[in-house]
Amino acid sequence: MKLSRILSNQDGTSRKRANALIAAGRVTVNDLPCRVAAQEVDRFASVAVDGEVIQAADTPCYLMLHKPAGYLSATVDAEHPTVLDLIAPDLHRDLHIAGRLDRASTGLLILTNDGQWSRQLTEPKVKIPKIYHVTTAYPISEETSERFAEGLWFEYEQLRTSPAQLEQLGAREARVTIYEGRYHQIKRMFHRVGNRVTALHRERMGDIRLNEDLATGDYRPLTSEEILSLP
Ligand code: URA
Repeated sequence: MKLSRILSNQDGTSRKRANALIAAGRVTVNDLPCRVAAQEVDRFASVAVDGEVIQAADTPCYLMLHKPAGYLSATVDAEHPTVLDLIAPDLHRDLHIAGRLDRASTGLLILTNDGQWSRQLTEPKVKIPKIYHVTTAYPISEETSERFAEGLWFEYEQLRTSPAQLEQLGAREARVTIYEGRYHQIKRMFHRVGNRVTALHRERMGDIRLNEDLATGDYRPLTSEEILSLP
């Protein structure tokens, strides 16, 4: 949000007065004076006017969860347990899910309170690879990898999926890499080639890989290397 907006969101501060306070050098961002009214300031920065804090800095939080089957990728639900039920309440801090998994799917799930960062992970145009281990009901046909590489037409969204890669691991097992995260994307792709997904496990998103030693249902903070690995 622009600095002037943060000030003018304060009770009784007009946009004009906000700009005047900023121009007069009375406003600090992270304790440093800032005279640029249009400066973008996120929730992880503190803002003060004449030394009085009007926005306290939030603590950024980035977590990797090994999602078990049966948990909804949502923050609240009346019917089913959600992935947030697995996270200690003192870490909740407005967490959201960066790339959901279906209830039955397992594996790497990333939760954060940093929306700018998570958009880099999920925006189709950023093209971060998402890698899944897939088990299917029927043997995977020869044409499957070709069809995935060509992209498949999704009628509902009126779009063609980006080229995806399939590495066959067994008759009914494959590693699939996609660069988007459309609704039920992998299931729908297999459905389009006459097959059915019976198990789906996300192994990796970009350079962030699920630890093999992270037990199902456990989580850990991302390392700074992982956080900085996004473009
Ligand atoms: N594609 C799916 O169909 N389901 C998921 O959970 C993730 C990708």
